[in-house]
Amino acid sequence: MSDMPQKSTNVVWHSATVTRERRAELNKHQSKVLWFTGLSGAGKSTLAHAVEEELYRRGFRTFVLDGDNVRHGLCADLGFSDRDRVENIRRIGEVSKLFVEAGVLVLTAFISPFRDDRMKVRTLLSSDDFLEIYCKCPLDVCEERDVKGLYKRARAGEIKGFTGISSPYEEPVDPELTIDTSSMTLDDSVQAVLELLLKRGVYSES
Ligand code: ADX
Repeated sequence: MSDMPQKSTNVVWHSATVTRERRAELNKHQSKVLWFTGLSGAGKSTLAHAVEEELYRRGFRTFVLDGDNVRHGLCADLGFSDRDRVENIRRIGEVSKLFVEAGVLVLTAFISPFRDDRMKVRTLLSSDDFLEIYCKCPLDVCEERDVKGLYKRARAGEIKGFTGISSPYEEPVDPELTIDTSSMTLDDSVQAVLELLLKRGVYSES
């Protein structure tokens, strides 16, 4: 259950007969959340989509939830204040939980800068279902890449509260996996994620 106070009363939980376990049996893989976290430009989305490609090729049910995309719809009302980022991650946690119930392997690509918020999602899901993958990349490399030109604008003071420049990023303490995207190739990074999935029994090689 969420730790959000519930406003609606007289609502009764209806249990599904097509359960998560039955879906897993049908899909021939478990559902989990692969939570990619890291600075803007660290390669979260690139890696999440590359892993998804590989899983799709194997016939898996997958979906990528990506910060920039979700902020066009579900989270269009949110900005980048600390408070809005907390709400952004809370919503994504809830959506991820629904996807997991639906039997889908969810790959999320959000900066998710606050440790506490990532921990809340882990708790919401049950620790086993939450695999935190830290896309580690030095700030100067992200800034050098500056794919979207946002770092330059943040340095010029045109964007306030930019993660890594004028807003904090709290590194994961004990992530399930750390990928140094400044030194590892994309292929090797994908392999490392697949190995983690195998190790955690998400699927078996047969
Ligand atoms: S989060 O902090 O709430 O997790 P999220 O992953 O959804 O952030 O969105 C980050 C993306 O929004 C960045 O990749 C970047 O393209 C864009 N962005 C725009 N403004 C900011 C900002 N102030 N800080 C960080 N990213 C920003």
